Amino acid sequence: MAANPQFAPPRMLMFTLSELNPELRRDPHALLDAQRAQAIAERDPTIPAVLITAYETGRDMLSDPKLSRNFEHAPPENFIINGIRRVNAAVEAEFGKHETMLVLEDGEHARVRGIVAKAFLARAAQARPLIERVVDAALARLEGRAGFDIVSEYACRIPIHVLGPILGCAEGDLDQLRAWTEAGQSAFDPTRTEEAFANAIAGRRGILGYFRDLIAARRAAPGDDLVSDLIAAQGEGAPISDNEILHNLFALLVAGHLTTADLIGNCVMLLLTHPEARARIEADPALIAPAVDEALRYEPPITQTARFPTSGGEIAGCPYHKGDALTVNLMAANRDPAAWENPHTFDITRRPNPHLAFGAGSHMCVGAPLARLEGQAAVLGLLKRYPKLRRAEEGAPPWRATPGVRGLATFEVAVD
Ligand code: HEM
Repeated sequence: MAANPQFAPPRMLMFTLSELNPELRRDPHALLDAQRAQAIAERDPTIPAVLITAYETGRDMLSDPKLSRNFEHAPPENFIINGIRRVNAAVEAEFGKHETMLVLEDGEHARVRGIVAKAFLARAAQARPLIERVVDAALARLEGRAGFDIVSEYACRIPIHVLGPILGCAEGDLDQLRAWTEAGQSAFDPTRTEEAFANAIAGRRGILGYFRDLIAARRAAPGDDLVSDLIAAQGEGAPISDNEILHNLFALLVAGHLTTADLIGNCVMLLLTHPEARARIEADPALIAPAVDEALRYEPPITQTARFPTSGGEIAGCPYHKGDALTVNLMAANRDPAAWENPHTFDITRRPNPHLAFGAGSHMCVGAPLARLEGQAAVLGLLKRYPKLRRAEEGAPPWRATPGVRGLATFEVAVD
């Protein structure tokens, strides 16, 4: 049948420019640069969402206090958001409302984030020796091997083993917590199977049940961990409910695991494919700090973050409606030629480097200082231990097909 030249199917903007599209995974910036050149903000005709690809527009939108991060404002036609809503609804009767700082608004957000971030960042600031121990242990497990997968055998073993002791989870529980956390990612994927979705719900139940028991245990006998800190703060009058403590412990665990593992994997991959940058770090290890931030700019582990307006408006000439997911593509913003000199050059001495990998505004990532410390220690530790580290395979690295995530499925290396 001859194609009808009059017929133009609706452009599925959010899908085409998501990690579900193999073309985007292979070469994201060919598509994202073309999109930005066409429109820095465009409404998707198939989902109530606006895609923003420009740095300044994206940063200002994320920082706009009038916009909410609560996806409950999104209409039911937003089938991407619906996955998360369904998981929340499935556990609400048993575990209460999803009151994480990610979705709380205005004063409620400031109150809860203030209490949780204060306690969490105090622990993160002391975490350097713990991180060094975790990195050493991850390296020790690889001793004697001629090669291994950076993602599953190194990067994924670090953040959970740092977060565990910080939050108060026992070492023996971490493999289970990790499996529950990873099962949750399918909630974001509209192409998931029902089985994967059931696992996401089971994972959420598992984590919330675990923290509910842990809170009860620490209330009876305090320990040296964040759960005990939050219970103590509550006891001293900090205005935070039991339910808010529970759900925010869940948020810290889930937000801090794969994101940071992907940062480590991406940064190793970038340094092995940019030998001159690696040589500079080997000559001057202090360069690992700007190198990790450049890796965050160049390959941000989270590629999208959104706000939900409570009334209609306009952004960069593009009209939006109440509840539209105003979504910044962080990969695109971090390589916007209007904001960055040579945006597609991986330059570890780039200064300043105000990338959007951790978002912006009042919801900006609370774990950024910890993620940076972990990324720096994990990558430097690996380079120091294996001076001959090199990639063991040819071809484009395999990126995972998880929407909103830029993370490698595997990255095989040889060490001699
Ligand atoms: C490289 C690693 C990480 C990346 C790329 C990352 C990225 C992000 C992004 C993009 C946001 C949304 C910000 C916005 O919408 O403006 C966010 C929020 C958040 N992140 Fe991270 N994150 C990382 C590590 C961590 C870690 C280690 C933790 C804690 C253990 C954490 C906890 C959170 C929390 C609780 C929020 C919600 C903050 C709020 O809404 O007030 N993240 N992160």
